[in-house]
Amino acid sequence: MNPLELSKAVGAFTDEDLRKAAAASQAAQRPTTLVRELGAQHRSRLLKHFLALGEEDRLLRFGQSVGDHVIEAYVDSIDFDHDTVFGVYDEHIELVGVGHFANLRDNAQGRVAEFGVSVSQSARGRGIGSALFERAAIHGRNTNVRTLYMHCLSRNAAMMHIAKKAGMKVQYAYGEADAYLELPPADTVSRLTEAIDEQVADLDYVVRRNLRDARRFGQRFWRSIMPQKSTA
Ligand SMILES: CC(C)(COP(=O)(O)OP(=O)(O)OC[C@H]1O[C@@H](n2cnc3c(N)ncnc32)[C@H](O)[C@@H]1OP(=O)(O)O)[C@@H](O)C(=O)NCCC(=O)NCCS
Repeated sequence: MNPLELSKAVGAFTDEDLRKAAAASQAAQRPTTLVRELGAQHRSRLLKHFLALGEEDRLLRFGQSVGDHVIEAYVDSIDFDHDTVFGVYDEHIELVGVGHFANLRDNAQGRVAEFGVSVSQSARGRGIGSALFERAAIHGRNTNVRTLYMHCLSRNAAMMHIAKKAGMKVQYAYGEADAYLELPPADTVSRLTEAIDEQVADLDYVVRRNLRDARRFGQRFWRSIMPQKSTA
């Protein structure tokens, strides 16, 4: 029996306390997720990421069942001058998380941006969705956005969890949910945080890409000088 189970057995903690403690401990053990801003040169990687989403994930991400041609049109239409797209790479430099921060029209409270996010099935539960959301929120603050908005299906438990954890106000209607986060104005800390996060993610990407290229070069080199097996 571990200490938490022992405390529960003597009535010191409820199941809810234990669940929160386990979640906090899991979150604390997560490695840092580096989020990078993407550009038009990354369209093919974005396309690969979205096309790999299954039917249910496409429904959750885009609010409707979408075929490959709709995804192709969506990726083609992303305006990188108007919107910001964030990505997370895995250890093989595959894009496993994408967040689209789209600037919408201003409302009475000020500027509004919509955020949509997807994480590859194999990379879920590691904090990537949350990291992309946090980056979007800080980017919103730094670009004078007052309200960050998300539209999801209300049965999207993971996304609703992220939204509520971030303190978003959620309105439900007909199986859909609109979540709003009021963003505080930018300050020195928010600006520095985003700038440092971006530089660290860029540096990490370049180092990993160079290591991968060096490894590939080494493999090709050794193959080229090894005696070839005779097929005769
Ligand atoms: C929603 C999505 C982006 C989450 O990505 P992720 O990288 O797995 O998210 P994280 O690991 O940061 O966090 C998931 C959180 O939800 C919780 N969660 C996961 N499944 C859950 C469920 N069924 N019920 C309640 N909470 C759940 C996790 O415990 C975690 O909480 P924690 O951070 O407090 O530990 C991902 O599941 C996805 O791409 N889904 C398909 C597309 C989609 O739904 N997009 C959102 C619409 S805009």
